[in-house]
Amino acid sequence: MKRLFQKFQLGKQICKNRVVCLPMVTSKYREDGYVSSENIEHYTKIAKGGVGLIIQEATCVSKTGKLSFQQLGIWEDNQIPGLKKIATAVHREHVPIIIQIHHGGIMSVTGNLCPSNLTCKNPFSGKALQGKEMSSEDIETVIHQFVSSGERAYKAGYDGIELHGAHGYLISQFLNTNVNKRLDKYGTDPTLFVLRIIKGIRLVTSSDFIIGIRLGAFEPTLEATINTAKKLEPYINYLNISAGFFGMFTPCKPVGYPYMEHIYASEKIKAAINVPVFVANFITSPQMADDILVRTNADMVGIGRGLLINPNWVKDAENGANTGTCLQCKNCFWLPGNDRSKCPGKKIFAQNQSSVTH
Ligand SMILES: Cc1cc2nc3c(=O)[nH]c(=O)nc-3n(C[C@H](O)[C@H](O)[C@H](O)COP(=O)(O)O)c2cc1C
Ligand code: SF4
Repeated sequence: MKRLFQKFQLGKQICKNRVVCLPMVTSKYREDGYVSSENIEHYTKIAKGGVGLIIQEATCVSKTGKLSFQQLGIWEDNQIPGLKKIATAVHREHVPIIIQIHHGGIMSVTGNLCPSNLTCKNPFSGKALQGKEMSSEDIETVIHQFVSSGERAYKAGYDGIELHGAHGYLISQFLNTNVNKRLDKYGTDPTLFVLRIIKGIRLVTSSDFIIGIRLGAFEPTLEATINTAKKLEPYINYLNISAGFFGMFTPCKPVGYPYMEHIYASEKIKAAINVPVFVANFITSPQMADDILVRTNADMVGIGRGLLINPNWVKDAENGANTGTCLQCKNCFWLPGNDRSKCPGKKIFAQNQSSVTH
């Protein structure tokens, strides 16, 4: 491995290798948004498994912006002590932890805020969505919710926050000019909404508090994402690249490029900016992770479902052991009818482990 196990410095934090645990909403335990003991166990296990950095799952800044009823929340001060338990448990394993903060906008289960009036269908769930154009007061309220959530994350002891600016949620809706048709300053400059959030969070935290953002690689085009990245660059510590509004993309990778479009796009984004870039999605083995780091020149590589199957993914990779295989069955995705507790990859991995032990 050329790069996977090299240390990396993010802000003032030292990551012991280049593997970042991607944010994944897995909390199926409580409906009030408060941390449960299962959440703490989940992150402790991943930290013990040797990752360089954890980005905690999308945690909602507003009761009415949730992407699922069981999503974790950071919308009120009483949630700080529970969140602090996660941060403390992970720090005990000498792993830095960033919390992803999120508002669902039109994709919320109990709300429908959107930069513009928009009628569409969620391509994943098939659900009809009817977005309501946000008034200036709505915008001020949500910016305040993000900023005070950033402050709560700081008070809870996280090393930083990641804004969820991808996957079609509210920030992604503002950044995507196919969705954001506003005629006011938030439409003429689609980055204004998120920039106000970032600058607000910086003011209520410290200069070494990490502020990152997850961005769609094609929001709505690669060129537009590069422009957004350049505008945000002076104010952020890193970019985590993923899919944008409803996962749409414009094919642009050259013939023979061995990885998916978002990986190719991450390479182009990394070449255009100076802040660290995390590359992610559908990376299924340590060899592939290392090759992608070298090829794209990205700074960290994200592993998501691999860590759900095997929280010891990094330690096993270091020892040359089987890390497990995600079968890409999408059973753990938020799709109607999925029984998210059933993971065939995990089952096969556990069977293999017990046949190795006995
Ligand atoms: C169960 C589940 C929950 C997810 N939750 C989030 C989330 O909270 N925030 C986010 O940015 N992405 C989320 N994602 C997307 C992952 O971060 C990641 O981009 C995706 O799983 C692809 O990476 P992988 O192939 O390594 O799993 C989720 C994915 C899964 C499977
Ligand atoms: S095997 Fe299926 S359920 Fe398990 S992590 Fe992979 S996609 Fe999710």
